[in-house]
Amino acid sequence: MSEQIYHSDLLENDVIISSKGRETDIPASNTKKYYIESYGCQMNVSDSEIVAAVLNQSGFQGTDNEKEADLIFLNTCSIRDKAEQTVRNRLTQLNHLKKIKKGLVVGVLGCMAERLKSKLIDEEKLVDLVAGPDTYRDLPRMISDVDGGQKAVNVLLSREETYADIAPVRYSSNGVTGYISIMRGCDNMCAFCVVPFTRGRERSRPADTIVHEAKEMVAQGYKEVTLLGQNVDSYRWTENEKLKGKNLVDAKYEEGVINFSQLLEMVAKVSPSLRVRFSTSHPKDMSDDVLEVMGRYANICNYIHLPVQSGSSSVLDRMNRTYSREWYLNRIAAIRKHMPNCAISSDIIAGFCGETEAEHQETLSLMDEVVYDLNYMFFYSERPGTLAAKKFKDDIPEDVKKRRLEEIIAKQNQHALQRHKEQIGTKQIVLLEYTARRSDQQLVGRTDGNKKVVITKDRWNIGDYVEVEIADCTQVTLFGNVIRKIDL
Ligand code: SAH
Ligand code: SF4
Ligand code: F3S
Repeated sequence: MSEQIYHSDLLENDVIISSKGRETDIPASNTKKYYIESYGCQMNVSDSEIVAAVLNQSGFQGTDNEKEADLIFLNTCSIRDKAEQTVRNRLTQLNHLKKIKKGLVVGVLGCMAERLKSKLIDEEKLVDLVAGPDTYRDLPRMISDVDGGQKAVNVLLSREETYADIAPVRYSSNGVTGYISIMRGCDNMCAFCVVPFTRGRERSRPADTIVHEAKEMVAQGYKEVTLLGQNVDSYRWTENEKLKGKNLVDAKYEEGVINFSQLLEMVAKVSPSLRVRFSTSHPKDMSDDVLEVMGRYANICNYIHLPVQSGSSSVLDRMNRTYSREWYLNRIAAIRKHMPNCAISSDIIAGFCGETEAEHQETLSLMDEVVYDLNYMFFYSERPGTLAAKKFKDDIPEDVKKRRLEEIIAKQNQHALQRHKEQIGTKQIVLLEYTARRSDQQLVGRTDGNKKVVITKDRWNIGDYVEVEIADCTQVTLFGNVIRKIDL
C-alpha cells in the first residue's frame, strides 16, 4: 500500500530539491564538486543551504548535475517509513553511478542518518559518510577521513548548535522567497513522532542573527521569508546573563527574554516590503500575542499552519499532543477573532493506534467545523523507538487506514474547492514566484493566505507584487487577472 498525499505540488514533507553551490566562494585549491538532494520538510531544505555554505567555505564547488559530482549527499527524512524507503531506493540507484565512477563519495545526512547511525553503513554498503543534523560543521573533516580510505560517522546531537553564524547558500532559491531557521530540535514528545530523536533538544537561535539574516535577504532582493521551527511558539532567546541556562519556557514574560511574538515583530519591522511567514505553530502554545502581532503588521501573512493530527480528544491524548478538541477549536476561534480572513492549514494522521470508527468520525466533523484551506494528510506509520511504538499496538488494518485517509482527503478536496470559490471576485495581493510549468507565458505566485495563483505573464516579472482579481479556480489553483503592480 502506498501512502496518499494531497496537494503534491505544495507538499512540505516530501520535496526533493537538487543543488548548486555559489561559485564565488571557491578557493582554487579544491576542485571537488558536490551535489545535494533534500528530502523531507522545509527544515531539511534550509539545512542543505547550511551544508552548501560549510562545503563552499572549504573550497568545494556545488553542481546541479549528479553525474559530474565527486560527492553526492542525500539529506534525508525519517518521518514515515515511506520517506526512508524513498531514500533507500535512491541509494540503490546511486550504486550504479558508484560502479562507473571510481572514488565517488556518497553521504547520508539529516534525520535518517541520525536515526540509523552506523547501521546505515552496515545496511547500505555504498554509503561512505553518515552525518546527523548537528554535525555539518564537521563535514570537511569527515570527507577527508573518507578520502583517507575510512568510513566516517558523526551523529552527535548538540544542545547549542543553531548554525547562527553561517550565512546559508540559497542555491535552489528563486531569489524571491527563502527560509530562515529560528530554532532546532523539539522538546515535545508526540507519541507518533521521530523528530525529537532525530533532531535532539529544542534550542533557539539568537534573535539578532535572525534579524541580520532577514536584512541580508532584503539587500539581496528577497521579497518573502518563512521562519522555520518544529514549534515556533516556543521560541525563547535571552541575552540576559542571569537567565542564561535557565528554563526559558518558564521565563516567558521575564525581562530580557525574546519570545516568538516579539521575534515576529522584529522581523516584520526589517522592511515593509518583506512578507513574513512562519511554520509550524503548535496548538498547545500558539499565543494570542502572536495573533495580535499578525493582525498589526500588513507584511505578516494571514496564514497559520496549525496541525491538529486528530479531531478526537481521546486520540489526541494517546498521541500525547497535550490539547483537546475543544482547546484546538478555541485556538481556531481566536485566530478568526483577530483575523477573520486568515487562511488555516493542518496536518492529519489517519488510523493512529486504537482509533475507533467514532474517533475517526470526530476528525471528519472537526474538519467540517474548521473548513481548512489546505491539509497535509497521512496514514499512521509506526516509527521505531517512539512512545507509540513502545506503548501501543499499531492495530488499525492497512485497508481501514487507507479508507479513512481517503475519506479525509475527499472532505479536504471539497473544502479546498469551497475556500477557493470564496476567493472568486476578490482582489488579492500576489507575490510572483516562478514561471508556470505548463506555459512560459504564465507566472505563478501566492496570495497572502498562501494560495497558489496563476496569471498571464504579460509585462509582469518574478519578484513583483501585483494586485490580482481572482477569476476562476480549481481545488488546487486560483486563476486571476492582474490589475496593477504595487509596492507592499
Ligand atoms: N512539528 C510539526 C510536525 C512535524 S512532522 C507539528 O508538531 O505539527 C509533519 C507531520 O508529519 C506531522 O504533523 C504529522 O501529521 C506527520 N507525522 C509525523 N509522524 C508521523 C507518523 N509516524 N506517521 C504518519 N504521519 C506522521
Ligand atoms: Fe514531532 Fe510533535 Fe515535535 Fe511536531 S511537536 S516535531 S509532531 S514531537
Ligand atoms: Fe523534517 Fe523528516 Fe526530519 S519531516 S525534521 S526531515 S524526519
